[in-house]
This record gives sequence, structure tokens and C-alpha cells, in this order.
Amino acid sequence: MKVLVIGGGGREHALVWKLSRSPRVDKIFCAPGNAGISEIAECIDIKADDIGALLNFARYEWIDLTVVGPEAPLTMGIVDAFKREGLRIFGPDASGARLEGSKVFAKDFMLRYGLPTAEYKTFTSYLHAEEYVRLKGAPIVIKADGLAAGKGVFIAESHDEAIDALKKIMKEKAFGDAGSRVIVEQCLRGEEASFMALTDGDTIIPLATSQDHKRIFDNDKGPNTGGMGAYSPAPVITHETADVVMKTVMNPLLKGLKREGIDYKGVIYAGLMICDGKPYVLEFNCRFGDPETQPVLMRLESDLFDAMKATAEGRLKDINISWKDEASVCVVISAKGYPDSYEKGKVITGLDTLKDEDNVVVFHAGTSINNDNIVTSGGRVLGVTAIGKDIKDAKENAYKAIDKIHFDGMHYRKDISDKAIKR
Ligand code: AMP
Ligand code: GLY
Repeated sequence: MKVLVIGGGGREHALVWKLSRSPRVDKIFCAPGNAGISEIAECIDIKADDIGALLNFARYEWIDLTVVGPEAPLTMGIVDAFKREGLRIFGPDASGARLEGSKVFAKDFMLRYGLPTAEYKTFTSYLHAEEYVRLKGAPIVIKADGLAAGKGVFIAESHDEAIDALKKIMKEKAFGDAGSRVIVEQCLRGEEASFMALTDGDTIIPLATSQDHKRIFDNDKGPNTGGMGAYSPAPVITHETADVVMKTVMNPLLKGLKREGIDYKGVIYAGLMICDGKPYVLEFNCRFGDPETQPVLMRLESDLFDAMKATAEGRLKDINISWKDEASVCVVISAKGYPDSYEKGKVITGLDTLKDEDNVVVFHAGTSINNDNIVTSGGRVLGVTAIGKDIKDAKENAYKAIDKIHFDGMHYRKDISDKAIKR
């Protein structure tokens, strides 16, 4: 079988790595991919949101299964376009991708079907939003409705911070149309975790739990990033809490999607806040998390290709998914300056020394090849992902591997998974 994976980050490297281990998969293409992916798949120079070119490529190459990594092509309707041509594709169509593409749609959906989430109100008028903020007081959370590359959410600790956020989104239009509607919501305190599941619209199978580390510096300090590391499983989601998530979040979600005629086939990712053991949904994503997918797939025992193909074909009920008992930890190495503007083109050394390790895989995120050297080309550069008998062991393995890697200006957090170890 021929597979096309769309995207070029650490998530896509992990997907390609796991798919390449399936005996059913003969050939993998990745658009656009990165230096690490090019070692196990053929990278093609098509951007992840160039739907027309991707469609032509999939038709020309007789691709059996296309897997979409990032959210942008999903919200733009890549799945609708492929389905119209009778091509098999893993991911929700544009109507399902609204769960990530519009926070207002997601919140209203949760309200309609009784999913646990923070109390909120939606505004299009700055004055009304300001009045509501005054009424509710700080701390309070302000969110732009549309996709804003993870930058459209403000946790305002004071009234002034909340007003600044409203001004930035609604008056200065910092996120353009994505900020034409704003959500003002209750601030929840607790521990965050990522809960992903495969669904074909009828069956839903949870994946191993994980926890991301959003801030750039140790002890959750500094600005938010795409994610600086993750581990799996997340002990904050006990078996009981996982059952509650299935009962109060995932099953009602599926029922709601059906009721609204949304044909959702792919992965659904709930960003949760666990408050005193009770899960609340902060957001939905219509794709695999990054970096979470890296440690999660390291633990997957089953064949990913079989599971994805069955999902796309609506046969998920035939699939069983099993996990390794070991834990895994992924530490992201970023470029100097990230998450603001960052350096590029720095030569990375030491990767060869890690190639034959059994318990470590270095997933590439922002890398490319220049004059036979692997160089940095993105903000998040590598995801050093290790497995171990428990989280502590996996953490040690990951950091031991990092000691062998070098590029100028490299930055990584030293405390990935400490929260789980201290539990
Ligand atoms: P979102 O994109 O909606 O998940 O928001 C990004 C981040 O903002 C989350 O991962 C949380 O850290 C934080 N966040 C979002 N909503 C809330 C909330 N209601 N209360 C506290 N923190 C929140
Ligand atoms: N790591 C967070 C996300 O993928 O949205």
C-alpha cells in the first residue's frame, strides 16, 4: 500500500515512523516532510495547505491512504476534496474540523450536548465584552474565535490584562478575522492533560493519555509555545477519570456529531483541565497533538496503518489497540529566539550517534538538509523521545540522548515529566 502523510513536523515524523513499521505499507510519501522524515519516506515539495497539488499527486501516484497532520488543510476542506474524488483519507471533513477551527462553534456544541466546559459568553461588540469582563472580574480567559497559531488565548490575571487582550483582538485586530468573535470564559484551575481518540463516527477508541508542556521555560514560566515536551501516560488521568472522560465528553460528542449530520472520521483531541479529578474540556483539536503524538506512538503496539485505514473506511469496530506498559518522554529542542522570531540554518551534530539506540528516537520537527548537513529550519527543531520502564527511566533516557546532540543556540526544558514523577 502507498501512503501519503501531509505535514512536516515532529508529529508527522512520528506518524511516518510508525506507519513505516506496518507490513502492509510498501511506500510512504510526505509533503513537505523534513530531513528526518526523508530518511524513511520520500519527501515531496508540496505545501501542506496546497490542496489542489496534493490531490493531483495522490491521484497520479494511486495513493491508498492519505493521512493529514496539521489542522489548516482540514479546516480548508482537504478531506471533502479527496472524498469527492473517491480517495481514501484519514481526517474529519471541514464541518467536523470546525471543532478546532471555531472556538465559538466548539463551545456552543459542548453547551448543546452537555459536555463539561468552562462557563462562557460570546461577543462581537467590544463594549459588551468589556462590560461582561467588569461584571465577572479577574482572573478570566479571553479567546479569539478562529485559528491563531496557539496565540489567540489570554489568561488574564487582572482586569487590565483582560481589557488589553480584548483591545488586541477586537480593536487592533491582531488575529484578523479570527478575532471577529471573542469568547470570554471562566478561568479553571487544575492540571492539564491531552486525551486523543480515534473515531469513525460510530466507534470511538481512546489512545494512550499524555501531557504537554506549553511554556518555553522550566516550571511553566515564559510565553506559550506549540509544546516543549510531553510524556505518556499522564497519571493525572486515572482509570476512573478516563472512564468519566468517555462518558461525559467522548460519547456525548459522538452523539452530537451524529445528530448534526457531521461525518467525523479521524482523531479527536480533547485538551482537558482536570479539576479535583473532574475533567473539563478547554478545547478540541481535529488532529493529532504535537508533541504528544511522539511519546504516544512510541508506546503503540498495534499496527497504526490498519487502525487508520479502518477509521477512514468506517470499520473501527473491527480494530483492537494495544499499548506497551512502558512509559515515554519527549523533550523538544527549540531554536534560539523561539517562540518569537528564531535562528535558522544552524548545523546539528550528534544525530548519527543515536541512530542505533533501541529506546530513543529523535523525531525531527524543523530540520532540512543543506550541503549534506542537517540544519535547523524551524522553531521547534527536534523531539527527543525515549521509552523506559517508568516515566523517570524514560526521562533519564531522553536527557542522556540530548547530551549527544548539539547546535548553536539550542534550548530545551530540563523538567519535562517532573510533574508526573512527583505524584
Ligand atoms: P486553548 O487553545 O483553548 O486550549 O487554550 C490554550 C491554553 O490556555 C490551554 O492549554 C490552557 O493552558 C489555557 N486555557 C484555556 N482555557 C482556559 C480556561 N478556561 N481556564 C484556564 N486556562 C485555560
Ligand atoms: N501540543 C498541543 C497541540 O498539539 O495542540
